[in-house]
Amino acid sequence: MVAYDDQMMKSICEAPGVRTEPRLAKPVCKGIAVMTGFDDSCDRTAAKLAGRLKLPLVTADTAQSFSYLLVVTPKRLELRENRRGMTRPICVDTTVFRRRRSTLNLSRRQPLARAIGPHTNTVVDATAGIGQDAFLLALMGYRVTAIERSAIIAALLQDGVSRAGDSLAGRVDVIFGDTREVLPSMRPAPDTVYLDPMFPPKRKRSALAKKSVRTLRDLVGDDDDAVELLAVCLRHAANRVVVKRPSYADPLKPAPSANHRGKLVRYDVYFVKP
Ligand SMILES: C[S@@+](CC[C@H](N)C(=O)[O-])C[C@H]1O[C@@H](n2cnc3c(N)ncnc32)[C@H](O)[C@@H]1O
Repeated sequence: MVAYDDQMMKSICEAPGVRTEPRLAKPVCKGIAVMTGFDDSCDRTAAKLAGRLKLPLVTADTAQSFSYLLVVTPKRLELRENRRGMTRPICVDTTVFRRRRSTLNLSRRQPLARAIGPHTNTVVDATAGIGQDAFLLALMGYRVTAIERSAIIAALLQDGVSRAGDSLAGRVDVIFGDTREVLPSMRPAPDTVYLDPMFPPKRKRSALAKKSVRTLRDLVGDDDDAVELLAVCLRHAANRVVVKRPSYADPLKPAPSANHRGKLVRYDVYFVKP
């Protein structure tokens, strides 16, 4: 069990070394509260987190009217849906990557790595979410800066990174802010900028998205401004911009320079002209 020492508390609540660019960052959505109730250390962290995110602080007894709860447990920060029979909480647990390392495809010949580019060292993940792609890229050996504009998702991500405790933590930096605002001032410009905006819904209604994806969409919306984000990325990447798209969707911007296809997704690559 990991107690919340001062450093961890800071990394969740104040995020030292993590730049915050909240001007365009999304306001926290309604219907969320931070829940206390584990031990004194968790309660102190929860109170600070609630203060920073400007969310109500509740106990199990007063939580009923909220749809989602951010719960500071002795092990990690969790986002829970607040209803009976609810599925697994959302959290950022990098130990999964360590446990599954032998089965992960980290080859530089796979579609993602080919899209990121053979001469790439630094990658900005412009739509970090809960960091699945950012951690994969870090494990492949890239130096990753993960930018996330939802305060709640960024808090989960920062919690995961602060607990990673191995080489992963040193390879991923988290910035809470909007990439359209953060990227233009990054020096030097990253070799590659990677984008994975929310997938457009499938036309077939029966194709229900995974629960965690639905929760994420509920919290952060549909990323309707992804085309504008791509335009900013194209102006500020050093070499290329990669956009992850579902195989069924058109490119975010017509005529990518190249694409690399996986089983269910496609990586559209836009070379940046010097
Ligand atoms: C589909 S999720 C990304 C999932 C991520 N690739 C992963 O592996 O976990 C899209 C995320 O991008 C974030 N986002 C969208 N536009 C953004 C922007 N302009 N700046 C920063 N974050 C953004 C959303 O808040 C959302 O969390």
